[in-house]
Amino acid sequence: RLAAARLLSGAGPVAADVGREEQPLRGAETGSEDKTPKKRFSEVQEERREQAQRTVLIHCPHKVSEKKFLKYLSQHGAINNHFFYESLGLFAVVEFARKESVGSLQSGTLMPHEAAIPFRSRFLSLKLKNAGGQPSEPPSVRASQQLPPSSQRLLERLCRAESVGDQLDTLLQELQLTEENVRLRYLTCSLIEDVAAAYFPDCTVRPFGSSVNTFGKLGCDLDMFLDLDEIGKRSTPKTVGNFLLEFQVKNVPSERIATQKILSVIGECLDHFGPGCVGVQKILNARCPLVRFSHQASGFQCDLTANNRIALKSSELLYLYGALDSRVRALVFSVRCWARAHSLTSSIPGAWITNFSLTMMVIFFLQRRSPPILPTLESLKALASAEDKCVIEGNNCTFVRDLNKIQPSRNTEPLELLLKEFFEYFGNFAFNKNSINIRQGREQNKPDSSPLHIQNPFETSLNISRNVSQSQLQKFVDLARESAWLLQQDGEGGPAPAPRQPWGLAALLLPSVRDSRSLSKKQNRRPASERVKSLLESIKEHNPDSPTATDGK
Ligand code: CTP
Ligand code: MG
Repeated sequence: RLAAARLLSGAGPVAADVGREEQPLRGAETGSEDKTPKKRFSEVQEERREQAQRTVLIHCPHKVSEKKFLKYLSQHGAINNHFFYESLGLFAVVEFARKESVGSLQSGTLMPHEAAIPFRSRFLSLKLKNAGGQPSEPPSVRASQQLPPSSQRLLERLCRAESVGDQLDTLLQELQLTEENVRLRYLTCSLIEDVAAAYFPDCTVRPFGSSVNTFGKLGCDLDMFLDLDEIGKRSTPKTVGNFLLEFQVKNVPSERIATQKILSVIGECLDHFGPGCVGVQKILNARCPLVRFSHQASGFQCDLTANNRIALKSSELLYLYGALDSRVRALVFSVRCWARAHSLTSSIPGAWITNFSLTMMVIFFLQRRSPPILPTLESLKALASAEDKCVIEGNNCTFVRDLNKIQPSRNTEPLELLLKEFFEYFGNFAFNKNSINIRQGREQNKPDSSPLHIQNPFETSLNISRNVSQSQLQKFVDLARESAWLLQQDGEGGPAPAPRQPWGLAALLLPSVRDSRSLSKKQNRRPASERVKSLLESIKEHNPDSPTATDGK
């Protein structure tokens, strides 16, 4: 148990992926920069991927003895790291030091007699051979938490903070993905890759979106894409001489049809043979075709796409922005949480703003500060070297990938001010005529009449918020104005809030005048504490087992 506790306490937050240890809470206030070299996105992805390949997932009985379990597994080689978590049962994630150990473990694993379809995956079940002999040691495993804290706990922690800036940092620390959760996300992709490899040997399944861009909140969905590009790169065609050999392949009318066909068979495969994959839905007619399913053992709602390198590139860009200044993530988490609390975002697809759009808005706002806190995408492109060049499907996706080549900002504005100014800025933004464009870092004329126009950074003819209705945008504007006003009141040193009374960021997450207008009379008669509780309950992430739930899509 002690060993496990030590391992767990050694695990920092996902921010460690950019080569920094957990920031002391106050460190994020003004983006004070440290000098530790920061890791590139591709380095993190490769390290995590390799780590996941040395890892297995084991469903365990609750009365397992951790010590004996580890001793039993280490017959196959040294164990680097492990942790337990509760999902539908108790699960262990075990990372071996060497990949061969996984092969050795699989060789010593029994294929159950009832297995109509034998599949040697890395998702195993531990059985106690001699159940009577085990309980001498009481159940001792410590389960690591994979879901966000309760809204009650979050509210209490926010109220105990020292300043609004401190509250923003607290929110980030409470909601960001933990080290274990990141491991579990990469492992899940790696397990799905094993299934897809049955059809496409040497394929890669890569996570993207908020699981890897450092803006993910515990409980967010797991976006992944099937990358078949590597298959073509495995051979080095001999070009000398008079002959050239080419693989025979089946031709399909278009790339879109190919993607749909590939996802269709992978969807079938996951549905029929994928251990722990349930509720598989093929959504092949969407602009970006996908297969949606629940990975029961990890509890993740997964969206699998194919041929989606641009989305991976935008995840890399967000990762870079998140790593450039420590205020960025704190601000994005608070804005996302605020939007969720007021039902501006939803787990059901519709006319709502998405988390991705909100992140773009925060980045744009930080580019507009004076001096700017974040560089424009154009200036990141100007810093790029030849090896950074990247063109995907005719779209220029080039930008500098080495974070250490980017000068830190001279801006020292505190988080509290930035949050207030964010609300003021977008409370007064000319959405009717201007588009948000992080490439140029300034407003552009809107190319069409959609209420909210946020240019896709790489596919520049696309609007990432095309789905947003005028009324949802208006709701955003009204709430932003009200929140700016509330923060202004705080700043003017109004009467100090009573102890335990929500203040600062906590107050912004409560029902606004606007929200309460739409509450039914019955709800209004409930005591304030109850209303506060139920509203904060809505901050909690959706139930990941629900097949239709994906945040903001
Ligand atoms: N994406 C995009 N254009 C959109 C929507 C999504 O390019 N209109 C890409 C982005 O790279 C985004 C990823 O798809 O990060 C995943 O989308 P989504 O799951 O909606 O957003 P996340 O960033 O993962 O945020 P969340 O935590 O809400 O899942
Ligand atoms: Mg997502």
